[in-house]
Amino acid sequence: MLATDFEQAQKRVLELIPKIEHHRFCYYVLDKPEIEDIEFDKLFNELIELETKFPELRTPGSPTQKVGTAPSTEFKQVHHRHPLLSLANAMGAEDLDKWQERLAKALDSSDVSKLGFVCELKIDGLSIALTYKDGELVEGATRGNGEVGEDVTLNLKTIKSLPKKLNPITLPDGRKKIPAEVDIRGEVYMSIQSFSEVNKQLEEDGEALFANPRNCASGSLRQKDPRKTAKRKLSIWTYNAYIHDLEISQPQSHHATMNLLKELGFPVEPSFKLVHGISEVKEFCRIWDEKRHSLDYQTDGIVIKLDDLKLWDWLGATSHSPRWAIAFKYPPEEIETVLEYIEFDVGRTGAVTPCAMLRPVKLAGTTVKRASLHNYDQIQRLDVRPGDTVVVRKAGEIIPEVLRVVLEKRPAQSEPVVYPTTCPICDTELVRGADEAAFKCPNIHGCKAQITRRLEHFVGKEAMNIDGVGEVLVKQLVESGLVQDAADFFNLDLDSLLTLERMGKKSAEKILQQAEAAKQRPMANLFAALGIPHVGVNMAYDLAQYFPSIEKLASATGEEIEKIEGVGPNISRSVSEFFKNPQTIKLIEKLQKYGVSLEDRADAKASLKVSDALLGKSFVITGTLKGLDRLKAETEIKQRGGKASSSVSKNTSYLVVGENPGSKLAKAESLNVKVLSEDEFMELLKAT
Ligand code: IVH
Repeated sequence: MLATDFEQAQKRVLELIPKIEHHRFCYYVLDKPEIEDIEFDKLFNELIELETKFPELRTPGSPTQKVGTAPSTEFKQVHHRHPLLSLANAMGAEDLDKWQERLAKALDSSDVSKLGFVCELKIDGLSIALTYKDGELVEGATRGNGEVGEDVTLNLKTIKSLPKKLNPITLPDGRKKIPAEVDIRGEVYMSIQSFSEVNKQLEEDGEALFANPRNCASGSLRQKDPRKTAKRKLSIWTYNAYIHDLEISQPQSHHATMNLLKELGFPVEPSFKLVHGISEVKEFCRIWDEKRHSLDYQTDGIVIKLDDLKLWDWLGATSHSPRWAIAFKYPPEEIETVLEYIEFDVGRTGAVTPCAMLRPVKLAGTTVKRASLHNYDQIQRLDVRPGDTVVVRKAGEIIPEVLRVVLEKRPAQSEPVVYPTTCPICDTELVRGADEAAFKCPNIHGCKAQITRRLEHFVGKEAMNIDGVGEVLVKQLVESGLVQDAADFFNLDLDSLLTLERMGKKSAEKILQQAEAAKQRPMANLFAALGIPHVGVNMAYDLAQYFPSIEKLASATGEEIEKIEGVGPNISRSVSEFFKNPQTIKLIEKLQKYGVSLEDRADAKASLKVSDALLGKSFVITGTLKGLDRLKAETEIKQRGGKASSSVSKNTSYLVVGENPGSKLAKAESLNVKVLSEDEFMELLKAT
């Protein structure tokens, strides 16, 4: 129904705008639409109609005035209503005793032995402030200087466990209510598992790694493009709430606040505990010193807070930290072991990385056998030698690093490390660029290690995604001579694959199918696969948005490339040089010859519109289609106004089932999603 008078229209516009923005965000950023396109169009058209009828309601910020969701957050400043303070540290049990003494003095009481404290794990992440109005997240900001932080709302919204809508809480009279406004405090962090995945990908892309999950979380939260944050899988624990509501009062104790957070739907770290007296606090710290290593997130201490919130007001804060809380910090874990020898690895870019091979030793919950020595300068700085006893630390408890040498324990006949001057694999003389940390093997096209690493990268998931071709098979293919460059993956045939050891017919057929499908990979993946120096997955994606074909990218001028945010002269030079290289030209010619698509079909899509018959319908394809490859099937759907998505939800209209369907079929059946065979799907395409 269309509102008729101005006031009604205004009210409806104010409802529609956040709704539309939310659904755009789900669609464009999270890639997980919550409603059908047709529903979305209805909301959008309603807004257009209202704005046409009452032009004074059309604001510059209205979704009708924007295209999609702007990928760039501007990081506006946010003034925190309640400043975000830091915490005083307790470096050992004595500091806890001293804190107890200070509390006794300030509270004018000698009997503090039964005081209630809440002990929480101190999560090593970034503190953030969230504001919910009427149960909806309206603003999320970093700590900044404690008074003013940066607006990272869109990025925070990509965190799966963060509620987008709050649960109502039960009032003393039994009614249920959502607080009018609530300010939340919490810690955004990255799980150890997600951190390892991010670093693995960066390593494959030849990009700099994050030293620890905290830096990784921070880098991910401050991405200008929330789609990139969404890929990084951040998590959050919350630990404080300031309620602003006439009917809901602030809890009386901190443990009640923690329970209230849970009731509202926030994730709360489950290990928190209400204890009494400093000796129970110490016991909690002692127990978690060991236990914390079994968690999938990093903790660097315990935060201890007085439970009684009246005491928070009474004690107040210094300019830096509250008097009612303290952070007990665990010392960083270091251990001595013997460095047995140094191994030199050659990566995809030819960089030679020294790695310390250690006598295995237990550290922070795991056995450490290797530690990075980063580069030549680091070896010089540490003067580390084979046979040395070294102190190893897990930087951020994840990546072990050699901190220093215990000189007193150095064996009498020790010799300084002889840094290789030639490649340990192909014996070519190593070179070092003017401002580069690594020595590199310049034999880009002849060094077996580099070739193999590059080919492994080429078939990887984020690159050409030729499933079934892993490290071992790449090695076999290179050694047998079947694959000499990346294009050769597209010139394999059944007979030659079957000559490989342990290769069965089924696997060989699967590889050929996968390679065939990979010929239609989007340019973003192809650019990433090519291994252009300094161009990782994210950069490849950005490049493909502007230059959706190899030809366009290869012929772009440095100036044109540098128009892309985050692209400086280094990257643009690297791209230009890459495409000028005769080896690249040869490779691209070969790729073309074997039928690999060298342009995105996305730009062809609009001009090839067939009909609007599938408008509002969303399709998921599972298994292998015999008649057409997946990308083609998806293009056909899109050309008819439909949407192709990768996961089944209750909003999926059809699941198209090919040969060997995956778990999506069971999911579709459980959600009553209509299932189409390939033949039925082809019929549908013909009819539309
Ligand atoms: S309470 C005024 N609780 O540690 C109260 N902080 O070193 C301050 N942190 O800036 C925060 N886990 O980023 C609190 N359970 C927890 C915490 C926690 C991690 C961080 C937070 C704070 C820093 C202080």
